[in-house]
Amino acid sequence: MPEQSLRDIKACVFDAYGTLFDLRSAVEAQRPRLGEHADAVAATWRTKQLEYTWLRSLMGRHADFWTVTENSLDFALESNGIDLAEATQSGLREALMQAYLQLSAYAEVPATLATLRQGGFHLAILSNGSPAMLDPVVQNADLSDQFEVVLSVESVKTFKPEPCVYQLAVDTLNLRREQILFLSSNAWDVAGAASFGFRVVWINRFAQPRERLPGQPDAQLTDLIGLPTLLMEASRP
Ligand code: 2OP
Repeated sequence: MPEQSLRDIKACVFDAYGTLFDLRSAVEAQRPRLGEHADAVAATWRTKQLEYTWLRSLMGRHADFWTVTENSLDFALESNGIDLAEATQSGLREALMQAYLQLSAYAEVPATLATLRQGGFHLAILSNGSPAMLDPVVQNADLSDQFEVVLSVESVKTFKPEPCVYQLAVDTLNLRREQILFLSSNAWDVAGAASFGFRVVWINRFAQPRERLPGQPDAQLTDLIGLPTLLMEASRP
């Protein structure tokens, strides 16, 4: 059944981390050095990274996503009994940080983006990442030509789900909220974007239960493969 709410979509705006880029690849390369701590470090790192973005926004004490990612990595290493001085000395800490600039794109991303562009949709990224983080990760994944614009929260010095972040896409693309389809694997980001007024598809890569928050997605997929069909069917006259 075509999603009527997706009839008037002109642009697809993507979250970056976890949606286009696989965060697991940041730790995978260092798994031999992290040993039994690898999974716990990865989980704590991401959870604490997001917590720090929400807390800094609420406190009005912004720092860019690179700083927040460093701070949360230090917490994750220490909380798993890894000596920070040693991790710095050995280059492990720097290797983990640099991995954020070389994340793998999920396998279906390049072909899906190319199909959407051929279908006439404008493509953009809207991310907590700083420009200094986003530019290399997009370039290293060979996706630079797919996006008309890469938007960073650094333009407004706060983090998602603050409404002014999503407003960046409306202002830059010069479209109405209901003409923008926002895609994220992060359920809290899905809620923020839907609450703001975007049309939203949740890319529920990790089979998570729905959040009990205001702002529900218009549709749910397990990856990006089905997105072009979903949009083409909805916009069929
Ligand atoms: C983003 O890319 C943090 O995944 C979130 O904005």
